[in-house]
Amino acid sequence: MFSNIGEWRRSVYCGEVSTDHIGREVTLMGWIQRRRDHGGLIFIDLRDREGIVQLVFNPERSKDVHERAHCLRNEYVIAVKGTVAKRPEGTENPSIRTGDVEVIVKEFRILNDSLQTPFVIEDRVEVTENLRLKYRYLDLRRTALQKNLILRHRVSMAVREFLSREGFIEIETPFLTKSTPEGARDFLVPSRLNPGTFYALPQSPQIFKQILMIAGFDRYFQIVKCFRDEDLRADRQPEFTQIDLEMSFVERDDVMGIVEGLLYHIFRTAVGIDLTLPFPRLTHSEAMERYGLDAPDTRFGLELRDVTGIVRGSAFKVFSDTIAKGGIVKAINAKGCGGFSRKDLDELTEYAKTFGAKGLAWIRILPEEWQSPIAKFLSDEEKRGLTEVLKPEPGDLILFSADDAKTANTVLGRIRLKIAERLDLIPKGGFEFVWVTDFPLLEYDEGEGRFKSVHHPFTSPMDEDVEKLATSPLEVRSKAYDIVLNGEEIGGGSIRIHRSDIQEDIFRRLGISDEEASRRFGFLLEALRYGTPPHGGIALGLDRLVAIIAGAESIRDVIAFPKTQKAVCLMSDAPSAVDTKQLDELSIKVIKRT
Ligand code: AMO
Ligand code: AMP
Repeated sequence: MFSNIGEWRRSVYCGEVSTDHIGREVTLMGWIQRRRDHGGLIFIDLRDREGIVQLVFNPERSKDVHERAHCLRNEYVIAVKGTVAKRPEGTENPSIRTGDVEVIVKEFRILNDSLQTPFVIEDRVEVTENLRLKYRYLDLRRTALQKNLILRHRVSMAVREFLSREGFIEIETPFLTKSTPEGARDFLVPSRLNPGTFYALPQSPQIFKQILMIAGFDRYFQIVKCFRDEDLRADRQPEFTQIDLEMSFVERDDVMGIVEGLLYHIFRTAVGIDLTLPFPRLTHSEAMERYGLDAPDTRFGLELRDVTGIVRGSAFKVFSDTIAKGGIVKAINAKGCGGFSRKDLDELTEYAKTFGAKGLAWIRILPEEWQSPIAKFLSDEEKRGLTEVLKPEPGDLILFSADDAKTANTVLGRIRLKIAERLDLIPKGGFEFVWVTDFPLLEYDEGEGRFKSVHHPFTSPMDEDVEKLATSPLEVRSKAYDIVLNGEEIGGGSIRIHRSDIQEDIFRRLGISDEEASRRFGFLLEALRYGTPPHGGIALGLDRLVAIIAGAESIRDVIAFPKTQKAVCLMSDAPSAVDTKQLDELSIKVIKRT
C-alpha cells in the first residue's frame, strides 16, 4: 500500500496552484486535510505549508485510482499527479487562495498513513492549549502557526540584511557562561569536569557584547537565545530570542536611529508596511504621569490626571491622609462608562486590588448630580477643580486611585487598559511605536533594603545627574531607553558605563561589595581598564515583536516549541528526572523537599 516518492518530485506547492496552471500537469505532495465522497466523486483537500488545494478523484477518468482513494484518511501523506482544471461554475471557494481551481488526479502514491489525530488540523481548533502543546507537530501543521513561523523567518532575514548593510558583524557569544544580571534567576548547568561548580545560561549576552566593543569590533549583533528563570506570562518564556546589538563611539540618538531604521526595514520587507519615522518619544516621568505605566499604549486617549493638588485638604480622608503621607491621587475619566453597574464597579475594584490598590473610588456623572459614595465629602471647590481637569459629561465615570505614586499610577494605568478594552477603543491592526527615555537609574527595593538598577548595573547615569548619586540617588536619570509597541515593551537598551571607576562605584551603590563585584564581574572590571570605547546598544525581543506583528495572543504562538506557564515542554516532557549515575558524575545529590 505504501510507496516512496521514487522518481516523483513536487512541481508546485499545494497552496500555490493557480489559474496559471490550468491545463498543466502538476505533482503535489502533502497531507490530507479531509476527504468528502460526493455522488461517485471523491474530493480531497490536500495541504502543505503554503496552503490547501482541492483534488478530485473521478471514477470516469480512472476507475482504479478512484477505487484506491477510498482508503485515504485524514493526515495521510500522499503524492499526486494530476491536471489542473478550472472549478465548475458555482463551486469556487473564495475563502482559499486556490479556490478557483482543482486538480483532477491521474495517479497517486500513499507515502505514509497516520493515526487518527487527537484534534482536527484546522485553523480554529476547539481544544485546550495543553493538548496542542503535547502534539505540537500536529498543532504546527495549522496554517496560522505555519504563517507565524514563516513570518518570524522573514523578520530574522530582514534583521540580518539591514544590520549587515549597516556594518554590524554577527558574533556568537557563549551559552555556558557566568551569571549576567538582568533581574531574573539564572538557569544553572553543573560542570562535570569541575565538580561543585556551575555555568549559568546567559540572561542576555550583555557583558560579552560590551567586551566585544572593548575588543574593537565596533558594531556587533546577534539573534540569540536568552534564558531567564522567572514567573511566566503570555509575553514571557524561560528561553526567548533577542535581536541584540551594540555599537561603539555612539550616544543615545545613534542607537535609537539604527533601531528605527531596523524596524522600518523589518516592517517594509517582512510585512509590507511603511512606518513613519522618527518614532515619538516620552520621558519615563511623562509616561508615568499620562499613562501610569512605563510601557504606555498610546493608541488611544483616556489619559490619567493628577488631582493631588485639588483634593489635598479633602474631607474624604482616604485622599487627604494618603497625600499627607506623601502619596498622590490620580484620576481617570472613563468616558461613557457612567452606566457601569455596581457589579462592574466591584469587579474593577477587585482588578485594581491585584495591582496593590486599597480601593477604587468612583463617581458616576449623572445629568443632575455626581453619584458616588464619596460625593458627599467633596466640596464645591473640589468639584470645580475636578471638572476643570477631567471635563466630565453626563454618562461618564470618574475613577480614583490614592496611593504612593508608583501604586496609584500602576493601578490607574491598568484600569485605563481594562476600560479601553471594554469600550473597544484599541484600534486593531495598527502599529504604534513610542520610545520611553530618561528612566531613573536606581530604584529602592524595600524587601531587600537596598538600591537596584532599573535596567541593569552597566547602564550609564546621565552626565548632568552623576553628582546626585551621592546625595539623591533616586533622582539620578540613566541613559536608558525602551522601545514600546502597542503598549508592550519590545526592547530596551542604554549607553553603558565605559569607565571602570564609575562601574565600581555603581556596584557599591547597589550594595555589591568589592569582593563580590570582583568575584562576579572581575573580568569585566578588568577589561574596562584596557581602553574601553564609549559604547551602547539595545536588545529587541524577537518573540514579542513577531507576536505583535502576527496579531498573536501569546508569544507561544510564534515559537515552534514553547513551554507552558510552569516552564514545561509538554511534548518532550522536559524538565525530567535523571538517573543517579548521571547525577553522581556531576557530583550532585537531589534533596527531596517534603
Ligand atoms: P531586557 O532585559 O530589557 O534587556 O530584554 C530585552 C527585550 O527582551 C524581551 N524579553 C523577553 N521576551 C520573552 N520572554 C522573556 N522572558 C523576556 N525577557 C525579556 C523584551 C525586552 O524588551 N541586555 C539588555 C539589553 C541591552 O541593554 O542592550 C536586556 O537584555 O522584549
Ligand atoms: P471606604 O471609605 O473604605 O468605604 O471607601 C470608599 C470608596 O473609596 C470605595 O469605593 C473604595 O473602593 C475607595 N477607596 C478606598 N481606598 C482607596 C484608595 N486608596 N484609592 C482610591 N479609592 C479608594
